[in-house]
Amino acid sequence: MNAADFAHIVIFTGAGMSAESGVPTYRGQGGIWASYRWQDYACQAAFEQAPRRVQRFHELRRRHVLSCAPHAGHTWLAALGRSHPSVTIVTQNTDGMHQRAGSRTVVELHGSLWRLRCADHGVREDLGGNYAVRRCPACAAWLRPDIVWFEDALDERVLAAAAAAIARSELFVSVGTSGVVWPAAGFQQLARRSGARMIEVNPEPCGLSHLYDRVVRAPASVALPRLFTSAGPAVMSPPRDD
Ligand code: APR
Repeated sequence: MNAADFAHIVIFTGAGMSAESGVPTYRGQGGIWASYRWQDYACQAAFEQAPRRVQRFHELRRRHVLSCAPHAGHTWLAALGRSHPSVTIVTQNTDGMHQRAGSRTVVELHGSLWRLRCADHGVREDLGGNYAVRRCPACAAWLRPDIVWFEDALDERVLAAAAAAIARSELFVSVGTSGVVWPAAGFQQLARRSGARMIEVNPEPCGLSHLYDRVVRAPASVALPRLFTSAGPAVMSPPRDD
């Protein structure tokens, strides 16, 4: 199997993609939601009740992410994007690690830690550990992290861009996602219906692993650089009933 065998490639990533960089995942051991109640830090109601507390939580995450670096898997994906004409990364991550590694075509389903927005005056980029500006310069409203929180709707345009890329993909590689949060589950089904060859990279089994043609039970930094080589990591074909 070579990258050139596929006209369009989608790499669908979740928190496990950044785990080896030192960015904590959301669920499982050491997961963010084991230490922080999302109801206090990651929803619109929490922001309206205590905007500074929510900003401080995101500043903590930004400083942590800035202390981490992309790993061999991120670098390999960026190189794949340079050598292949159609590689789209669809990510649930907000950490910007793919872009830091050099990937250019990245659809950020859940927004970005590196942007803030005012409901009336739009989005601004802010790349430091602490926010340079906490209130909108135009109207003085608290600026909200431009992230899709719990109970938020996804941005329709972003969702449509991701779905279009997945619908035309000939190879769909999912990396480091538990696949439990919508629309992850729907995207996997869409890739299946579209006839893409499907590979899952995740050290742990997931609920939808049975949808995949190949399951690679290895960490992203090991599995990705070997994806197209015969000396790949242990590969398992899940039983299929279709
Ligand atoms: N390589 C690949 N996968 C890994 C690695 C690794 N080194 N380490 C852990 N994983 C896997 C875990 O086995 C798990 O299945 O990554 C997955 C991480 O799952 P989650 O923490 O649930 O992350 P994700 O699927 O991205 O969560 C989706 O939930 O809370 C929301 O908005 C948040 O974007 C997030 C969404």
